Formats: sequence, C-alpha cells, structure tokens
Amino acid sequence: MSELWLRSYVRSGVRVATAALLAVAYGALSASAAAHPPPVANARLGRVIGYTCLGCHGIVGYRNAYPNYAVPRLRGQHVQYLIDALKEYRSGARAYPTMHLQALSLSLQQIVDVATYLAGKPVASAKPVALSQVPKAARLCTSCHGSDGIGVSPMYPTLAGQHESYLMRALREYQTGYRKNPIMNAMAASLTPAEIRTVAAYFSHLSPGLHTVPRPYFSWTAKPLHLTERFVRRSSAR
Ligand code: HEC
Ligand code: HEC
Repeated sequence: MSELWLRSYVRSGVRVATAALLAVAYGALSASAAAHPPPVANARLGRVIGYTCLGCHGIVGYRNAYPNYAVPRLRGQHVQYLIDALKEYRSGARAYPTMHLQALSLSLQQIVDVATYLAGKPVASAKPVALSQVPKAARLCTSCHGSDGIGVSPMYPTLAGQHESYLMRALREYQTGYRKNPIMNAMAASLTPAEIRTVAAYFSHLSPGLHTVPRPYFSWTAKPLHLTERFVRRSSAR
C-alpha cells in the first residue's frame, strides 16, 4: 500500500495523508468485519431475486429521470462492493429512495446472493496503464480504483466502463455529503467541477470495463426457468 501511495501523483499532501489514514482505518474495520464472514452465496437464488433489479439495471442505457443520469452498470463489479453498497442503501448512508426500499426488502443472505448473481465474472485487467497516461486529477484515485479503473481490492469499486453521468453524480454526492463514506467524502472534497468531468470521462472510457447485466427474460437460449422464477418474473414485470 505504502509504495502505491509514493508512486501516486502528489498534488495535495494533506489530501494524500488524510486518504492514507482513512484507508488504514478502513482496512482495520474490514479486518474486524472479516471475523464474521458473510453467508455463502447462492447465485441461483440471486438470479430469482435479480429479476426485479433488472427492470432498471438490465436495460442498456436506462436512465434515472429526476435527476437525469444513467443507472449504474453492475456486471463485472466486485461482489463485496455491491454488498457494501446495498447495505449502505439499507442503512441510509446512501439516501436513494428506490434503492433504499429495494435493499430494505432483502435479508443479508439475499443481498449476498443477488450481488453475486448481478456481479457475475469480475472484469479482468487488460494491461497496466502507465501513471503518466492518467489525467492528473485522476492519479490519486488509482491507488484504490486502479490506473485501468479496476478496483485494486474487493471493497474498492471498479470504475472502468461505468456510465460517465453516474460517476459524476456519485462524486457530487460524496462532495455534498449526501452519500456518506469517510474515504470518498475526503477524496471528493477538493475536486473542482472541471476535475469531476475529467475523472468521470477518463474512468468511464476505459476498457475492459463494466457491463449492463443482460436480462435472462430475453435470452430464450438459456435453459428453461423454474416455476418460482417465472412467478417472480411475472410479479415483478413493469
Ligand atoms: C427503479 C429502478 C431500480 C431498481 C428496480 C433497482 N435499482 Fe439499483 N439502482 C438504481 C439507481 C438509479 C441507482 C443509483 C442510485 C444512486 O445514485 O445512488 C442504483 C444503484 C444500485 C447499486 C449501487 C451500484 C454502485 O455502483 O454503487 C446497487 C448495488 C444496486 N443498485 C443493486 C440493485 C439490486 C440488487 C436491485 C434489486 C433488488 C436493484 N438495484 C433494483 C435503480 C434501480
Ligand atoms: C483510499 C481508497 C480510495 C481512493 C484513493 C479513492 N477512492 Fe473512490 N471509492 C473508494 C471506496 C471504498 C468507495 C466505495 C464507497 C461507498 O461505499 O460509498 C469508492 C467509491 C467511489 C465512487 C462510486 C462508485 C460507484 O459505483 O458508485 C466513485 C465515482 C469514486 N470512488 C471515484 C473516485 C475518484 C474520482 C477518486 C480520486 C479523486 C477516488 N475515488 C479515490 C475508495 C477510494
């Protein structure tokens, strides 16, 4: 970790030091969380739960109306990060009403199952991107989100291929404190509007990257659905 920090582009010593301290604190927190491992995932059950989610997350280019930004891509994301995000919607640390209700309706086991199904196979890194090719505003971010946009550990989200409008929206929310996360609140605090545009453009255009989860509804080549799955699909049809 320390070498990564040294390699990082140092524009603001304070910001780097704060982020480093937070990262260490976060590491300690996750270490204690590791003492209670999450339940074993069942992706097959997750697929059943996932039908509801794909009404928004399974449509290419689907946008949230007010405010207008693209619904995040989930395929290829780290499972652990998706679990953390769902817990944050549940607790209200992320105050997005629809996702709060979605997450509230799920048990921890169901969150783990659906996150595993939606994430699918993690995005694999192509080849490392030299730091000199990363825009200055995004260099500090690479120690956690990778210069190729792929989160360096399971709790750091992959940003490669994520929608540009969604990344901008998320960064503004960390900035205003609407989204509460000690690391990202600190990281976003000093970004100017122009820097937010730059970093969002950089990460969203990286490939390989995240995808929209394909809706099994349309893939008739897939093996026949179980009765329960049909039921869930019909009752969640929108
Ligand atoms: C009505 C549309 C809608 C439905 C249905 C929906 N979502 Fe979402 N989801 C969104 C939007 C919009 C966001 C971005 C919210 C924000 O800005 O924080 C989001 C964000 C997320 C995130 C955070 C992604 C990230 O990169 O941080 C996860 C994880 C997620 N949803 C999982 C689910 C799961 C699991 C379900 C089904 C149980 C579901 N969603 C159902 C619209 C929806
Ligand atoms: C010390 C590690 C660390 C650094 C450095 C860091 N981040 Fe993050 N980032 C995180 C973590 C952890 C999360 C998940 C926070 C949460 O759960 O809301 C995150 C979340 C995000 C998200 C939301 C992704 C989503 O899918 O909703 C964006 C966008 C983001 N970071 C951009 C950046 C940018 C841009 C920088 C550089 C200015 C940066 N990050 C620096 C750790 C870091």
